[in-house]
Amino acid sequence: MLPAIEWRNGTVVMVDQRRLPTVEEYFHAHSYEDVATAIETMVIRGAPAIGVAAAMGVALGVSSLDEKLSGDQLRAEYEKIHSRLQRTRPTAVNLFWALARMRTVFEKYLGNPDLRRRLVEEALSIEREDIDMCRRIGQYGRELIQKGACILTHCNAGGLATAGYGTALGVIRAAFEADSSVTVFADETRPFLQGARLTAWELMKDHIPVTLITDNMAGFMMNRGAINYVIVGADRIAANGDTANKIGTYSVAVLARENGIPFYVAAPVSTFDLSLVSGEQIPIEERSPDEVTNIQGVRIAPQNVVVRNPAFDVTPARFVTAFITDRGILKAPYTETLRLMRDAGSGD
Ligand code: MRU
Repeated sequence: MLPAIEWRNGTVVMVDQRRLPTVEEYFHAHSYEDVATAIETMVIRGAPAIGVAAAMGVALGVSSLDEKLSGDQLRAEYEKIHSRLQRTRPTAVNLFWALARMRTVFEKYLGNPDLRRRLVEEALSIEREDIDMCRRIGQYGRELIQKGACILTHCNAGGLATAGYGTALGVIRAAFEADSSVTVFADETRPFLQGARLTAWELMKDHIPVTLITDNMAGFMMNRGAINYVIVGADRIAANGDTANKIGTYSVAVLARENGIPFYVAAPVSTFDLSLVSGEQIPIEERSPDEVTNIQGVRIAPQNVVVRNPAFDVTPARFVTAFITDRGILKAPYTETLRLMRDAGSGD
């Protein structure tokens, strides 16, 4: 599986996810502004991958600053870089988590000749740790999956959405490694089609049997007994377990409950935002109406039609059977189990 993002000698190289699966092309970011544009325009997407990109964007931005700048000047430039990257996408908390980590290193090494090198190292650690977290999520998650299971997933929470391996697709990969009779249904995921374009492509590359369906077919498939589990990723999880993920996830969760199917959310600790009491406080990104009125550049709706395009929805915690995290499986009551997870990891 090719990495979604790579630091290559002072350039951030990303596979251009807008063009997959028809064209495998790379976007070369030479400045933090390029990285910010790549995040905004979905060259790179998926919560953990956005975090890695932002961290590399900071490293790139600071590395290109004049060595002769005073501490105050450096700080002023840093704030510009930080706030530009922070404004790219509002929902995935991994972005803010990664920027906070970079800021800690900046504060520690400001005035130290090692500052630039330390920032690059921190960005690379965030990348490496993300892969490790995904692998652990996979190991924990596969224990939940019975032999011969069929798993439905929504959007793309795979290697493309992380530094590698994936969260929801990490569980699927690990389950498939243990039992090659595991199969997958991928929702196409309107409007941006991450399921049709990215999840189907990723799984096929790994020879994991995948069947593509449109979003409105999921209920029928569940009702006919074709699906045993739902596993999705997350962009931000509040302290009570309410979960923001790609638009359409909430509908899938409700359908899963109606049909008695376990609904799992796979996410690393960097996706939990325990400063928010509930999902009502999660900022939801609204994207351009063009994503709804056009498919791959072809207009399908009347000119001037009124459009809404929320990119995420919030699944209430009561629909989540369990969270599959890099620290283990968490079950309700989430306010309690998420707090215990945070306290156990506070020495990290
Ligand atoms: O708009 P996107 O493509 O960035 O949304 C991605 C998702 O909703 C993913 O499910 C989520 O970020 C988890 S990725 C491991």
